[in-house]
Amino acid sequence: MTGRRGRQSKSLHRSRLPVAIAVGIFLGCFFAFFFPYSFLSPPKPPRTTAKSTPLQVVSTIGESSEQLNQLKSQLVEAMEKNVKLKIQASALTEKLRLAEQGKDHARKQVLVLGAQQKVGPFGTVKGSRTNPTVVPDESVNPRLAKVLERVAVGREVIVALANLNVKDTLEVWYNSIQRVGIHNYLVVALDEEIFKFCVSNDVPVYKRDPDEGIDSIARTRGNHAVSRLKFRILREFLQLGYSLLLSDVDIVYFQNPFDHLYRDSDVEAMTDGHDNMTAYGFDDIFDEPAMGWARYAHTMRVWVYNSGFFYIRPTLPSIELLDRVVGRLSREPTSWDQAVFNEELFFPSHPGYDGLHASRRTMDFYLFMNSKVFFKTVRKNTSLSKFKPVIIHVNYHPDELPQMLAIIEFYVNGEQDTLKSFPDGSDF
Ligand SMILES: *[C@@H]1O[C@H](CO)[C@@H](O)[C@H](O)[C@H]1NC(C)=O
Ligand SMILES: *[C@@H]1O[C@H](CO)[C@@H](O)[C@H](O)[C@H]1NC(C)=O
Repeated sequence: MTGRRGRQSKSLHRSRLPVAIAVGIFLGCFFAFFFPYSFLSPPKPPRTTAKSTPLQVVSTIGESSEQLNQLKSQLVEAMEKNVKLKIQASALTEKLRLAEQGKDHARKQVLVLGAQQKVGPFGTVKGSRTNPTVVPDESVNPRLAKVLERVAVGREVIVALANLNVKDTLEVWYNSIQRVGIHNYLVVALDEEIFKFCVSNDVPVYKRDPDEGIDSIARTRGNHAVSRLKFRILREFLQLGYSLLLSDVDIVYFQNPFDHLYRDSDVEAMTDGHDNMTAYGFDDIFDEPAMGWARYAHTMRVWVYNSGFFYIRPTLPSIELLDRVVGRLSREPTSWDQAVFNEELFFPSHPGYDGLHASRRTMDFYLFMNSKVFFKTVRKNTSLSKFKPVIIHVNYHPDELPQMLAIIEFYVNGEQDTLKSFPDGSDF
């Protein structure tokens, strides 16, 4: 049945086709004859016809050659514009391609880092702040690898940089460490004298291979120059797969810091803050009365991390942090390394800038105490001063040695009087 109906309709088609063609031709002729201009193209008044006089023809030709020139120059202009636009377009396409590539790179990285997961019930979901550690690469510095193998405990080590300028402070520093019974600490000697000094006192020490650019700074300059160097020197430690507790030497130890770390973040640092708000972050409301109803703007604030005492895990974001800080310090020679360190850690991505997005943890400001907290608050408060901190960093006071000794007297020997002679801050 179906076959038959098919054949029938085919033959019907066959007979309809010539009819349709014939009708089409007829209609075409009809419209061409009666409406010669109006059907397919808009009507054009014929400019030159057989009826025009010769004069008219000449003037029309004159006009049209003028027009032709105009048109030519317009054409040249348009072509020039076209070339410019093409260049712009290809630049934009290139930008777009790079942007797409960047996005694609980020997407691919996500694919590599983790399988997709289903979301658990409310309140059970946790993003990761603990990045995987890098594969240790001993080839970057076999000699340092040997030293660390001997000194580190659980692939962790306290590291301090020192040159001859800080010899007295260094001595107080390592004595306080030894008193607590910490063995995994290492001095990076920046000159021969400090190296010998450490060796003769049985202090674990490592002297770097000569590197003129770094070493001239290291030997001769003061605190700030040395503290810029550390970001360059620390990279190798992380490449070797060790977690570092970077320590300035104006720090005294009362407990083993490794007993008080969380180890969940790329960077875990002591703060320059002095209370819960300044240390851990707060909403600082900015008031602009002229804005009327909208006068209050909320801002996020936190006191900077202290770049003289931080724990850093051997992860890609950590190493990127060091590289970024080193890069900026060399490009901006007058910048302060601590400010740069914090900007790199905290500023989010924005147009034209990719933020670091390392995970961060602020250390307890009573356990890892700065000297402002100690002199302004703790030493005057009988209940707070009963608790022994892990470390105290004499970072708010310029001549740190007397303060360091007085603090040790206070916590180790219970001697309170030496402290009383110090002001809260420094006496300029
Ligand atoms: C400060 O924060 C700690 C925990 O982070 C909390 O136990 C303490 O009560 C807070 N103190 C004040 C004064 O808010
Ligand atoms: C000492 O510190 C504690 C804890 O911050 C506080 O509650 C107390 O009021 C302080 N005491 C004095 C005398 O400031």
